[in-house]
Amino acid sequence: MREQLENIKIQAEKELVNAQSIQELENIRVRFLGKKGELTSVLRGMGALSPEERPVIGQMANDVRAILEARLDEAARQLASKERQEKLASEVIDISMPGRKRSFGKKHPLTQVIDEIKEIFLGMGYQIAEGPEIELDYYNFEAMNIPKNHPSRDVQDTFYIDDNVVLRTHTSPVQARVMKTQKPPIRVICPGRVYRSDEVDATHSPVFHQIEGLVVDKGVTMGDLVGTLKEFARALLGENTNIRLRPHHFPFTEPSAEVDVSCWGCGGSGCRICKGEGWVEILGAGMVSPKVLRECGINPYEFSGFAFGMGVERIALSRFNIDDMRLLTENDVRFLKQF
Ligand code: DAH
Repeated sequence: MREQLENIKIQAEKELVNAQSIQELENIRVRFLGKKGELTSVLRGMGALSPEERPVIGQMANDVRAILEARLDEAARQLASKERQEKLASEVIDISMPGRKRSFGKKHPLTQVIDEIKEIFLGMGYQIAEGPEIELDYYNFEAMNIPKNHPSRDVQDTFYIDDNVVLRTHTSPVQARVMKTQKPPIRVICPGRVYRSDEVDATHSPVFHQIEGLVVDKGVTMGDLVGTLKEFARALLGENTNIRLRPHHFPFTEPSAEVDVSCWGCGGSGCRICKGEGWVEILGAGMVSPKVLRECGINPYEFSGFAFGMGVERIALSRFNIDDMRLLTENDVRFLKQF
């Protein structure tokens, strides 16, 4: 039996040296040390030994097992490290290869315009105010001096939730919300989504965006309004931009005006953008009506203010030379990523 054990050891070690893979090592382990392996079958024959010999052979068998297990482990380690070396040597990294391009998302053209306008007014010391899109009739109309029989309340234009609640038709109600909660001096712009029951076409949508502006302080004049809008127009459209005011009517301002900017396409001589006019209308504005101030808890004898409201889509379309508003909301990435 000694001899047998000796042979097992020699034979197993010889095979270990030649083993080329982890799988081969495993085969060797099973063959020599497994339940039905050679070492085990030698141990089974121990019953035939004399009592003196038994512990000696037992000890020897354990030694052989321990040695072989250690050798197997060692061989496995070596094989693994050899495999790693070979892999490293065979995998070449070509640092001159062009990298994989990652495509970054970008801001929607409307968001770009809104952010740009916000930036301009923040630079003039304005704060940003927001109000709910689902608005009380009171703020949307009543507080803005739009009485019950005013045409803009017509069911044609306004989405009513119930008698008292509407989808806001403009951002002007944020004016009332601000005046009722803040004391002058007030300088805010209020960007946001507004809703009107319009048919969808190239220039209309039932959902669009406005940016409202409101300034209330002591001694605010129409001159301040004109100066502010001129500064704004120049910052948005370029140094040489001019503005003009045409008299108009809004219930919440007195006097009121529609404000045009000189066309950024042609500078005033007439082109496709301004439809030959030389001017493009971009907003409505005026001096805040004393009625509105009073309704919102501000004494019109002490304070005065101006307000303005512009449509963002209109500005974005002409800025990016887009001829159909629907393109902005169809979410075709191929279209949107041009801007
Ligand atoms: N709310 C008006 C609209 O939706 C726009 C507007 C006009 C806002 C004059 C104003 C303003 O603040 O003073 O048509």
